[in-house]
Amino acid sequence: MTQTPRSYVYIANWKMYFTFQEATAWVEQHGKQLEELAAQENAKIILAPSMSALQSITTHFQNTPINTAAQDCSDRTTGAFTGQNSARDIASIGATFCIIGHSERRTLQGDTDAAIAQKCSNLLQSGITPILCIGESAQDRASGQTLQVLQAQLSWVSSMPFISSTASIPLLIAYEPVWAIGTGQVPTLAELTTVFSWLKTIGLPSGTRLLYGGSVTSKTIASPKSCPLIDGFLIGGASLDFQEFKNLVHY
Ligand code: 13P
Repeated sequence: MTQTPRSYVYIANWKMYFTFQEATAWVEQHGKQLEELAAQENAKIILAPSMSALQSITTHFQNTPINTAAQDCSDRTTGAFTGQNSARDIASIGATFCIIGHSERRTLQGDTDAAIAQKCSNLLQSGITPILCIGESAQDRASGQTLQVLQAQLSWVSSMPFISSTASIPLLIAYEPVWAIGTGQVPTLAELTTVFSWLKTIGLPSGTRLLYGGSVTSKTIASPKSCPLIDGFLIGGASLDFQEFKNLVHY
């Protein structure tokens, strides 16, 4: 009897790498194969392009199994907030996921846990599934503070009303150690097991899926894929190259 492959989630975080033209050309060139890949591998694939391309890519994949995500949203709902994008606006173009709390926003844009909690609330009210990123710095890791840091970053989650009954996944949590992002370094299997087994014990909303992110490439994916507690991957640089992204889904 053939077994259905395990259903992993793969999120391509394109960060600020592609222009609108480059992102839409990628989709024109590889979109059909991406849909076939999702079906063949029983995978949930979510593309997170920059805001300029989000609407056109979301429309391109309407009525297909490919989903899209914004890379961030405002902690405000509407009003005089130049340069920000509301959860309502993201929902209005049909995107169904949104990344919040990415370490590049926490460190470069000063996003606080309070602001991230507000973003989460705005997303849930607009029917969008949050992809919450958490992760410790190299210094936190060296001083044995990993779980304390993650606990602080998740402190507000238990009081958030996750009642989005229509969402197939209420919340995605991506463990992305800051020291692993863009460095080629990944945690050991023992480190991953410690973090993910702890995440399983802290009473996250039922149906939450747990992802790993940070230097996921075809050279590094073996170890996180061997950890049964990990439901998927948040992929930066390696998701820009279709062949490499395909290798990761296929691995
Ligand atoms: P890299 O895969 O390029 O290390 O980026 C990880 C990341 O930040 C995904 O959100």
